[in-house]
Amino acid sequence: MHTNSATNLTFTDYHPVPADFYEEIVAGLNQTPKRIAPKFFYDARGSQLFEAICDLPEYYPTRIEKKILMDHVDAISKAMGPHCCIIEPGSGSSDKVRLLLDAVNPRGYMPLEISKHHLLAAMDRLTQDFPWLDVHAVCIDFTGDLTVPDHQDDAHRVAFFPGSSIGNFEPVDAMRFLRDLRAVVGDDGGLLIGVDLKKDEATLNAAYNDAAGVTADFNKNLLVRINAELDGDFDLEMFRHWAFYNADAGRIEMHLVSECAQAVRIGAHTFSFSEGETIHTENSYKYTVREFQDLARATGFRPVETWTDTNDLFSLQYFAAA
Ligand code: AVJ
Repeated sequence: MHTNSATNLTFTDYHPVPADFYEEIVAGLNQTPKRIAPKFFYDARGSQLFEAICDLPEYYPTRIEKKILMDHVDAISKAMGPHCCIIEPGSGSSDKVRLLLDAVNPRGYMPLEISKHHLLAAMDRLTQDFPWLDVHAVCIDFTGDLTVPDHQDDAHRVAFFPGSSIGNFEPVDAMRFLRDLRAVVGDDGGLLIGVDLKKDEATLNAAYNDAAGVTADFNKNLLVRINAELDGDFDLEMFRHWAFYNADAGRIEMHLVSECAQAVRIGAHTFSFSEGETIHTENSYKYTVREFQDLARATGFRPVETWTDTNDLFSLQYFAAA
């Protein structure tokens, strides 16, 4: 542990092992159907494209979640209770937690982030803007073994998981992850989570098929990355972005569709595609408030309060340990 005495910042590095991009891409493209995990979207350009997605008129989740956080910050902080320690898995830039800090006035903030570089840069800015805040930053892969340091274990812990990132998990994996969070926050803990809601298909489809084509660029950036980093020869003109709501599964699916029969080389490997064959790159599950409450209940959480926008597009849900 390293302590910066100029601020209230401490840091624990669990030295997460980065995913082996080459190995995982080759393994995923050897599967039927072919797939690439959505975590690979977020290189520097992919992260920029995702930020651009968040500003698109069609992509409502980010904008609405922020509005819900701001509109209900007093009720949210009441639910979280005084002097809690906020634990945020996948904290990234730690932008959304800023909307809570003044009202919640937590005893501590524990961001969990796999990228040491992004974590330290974000904590630099956060401790500047919130000098009173006690921060314990943890560099960890939160999808692996989820242990956190015994920092401030006198404060009750509230996990904060905004952005509907939970939608990227298969429901069974979402349950496993919520169980891990339940163990981390303990018997007096809580969970504040952003969950995108089921709604009319046109709104969902538009959010992942924006008119400006930013989501298409975000999806195709996977192929750009493979070409640049893994010596690939994907012809970007010969793959097309495809996103649609799969109502039976309750999820948006994103794919890259091969426009023709073709062979693609990545390093020493060759992969053949038939015309219309896809690489499945993302699932984004949507829930009703009730469906998500049932899922969380099964993992040891008790629903306490839900906040939504007037059109019921997005929800912020607070749970207490059951
Ligand atoms: C970051 C997983 C919440 O599923 O809406 C946005 C990612 N993909 N547009 C989502 C995403 C395409 C986003 N999450």
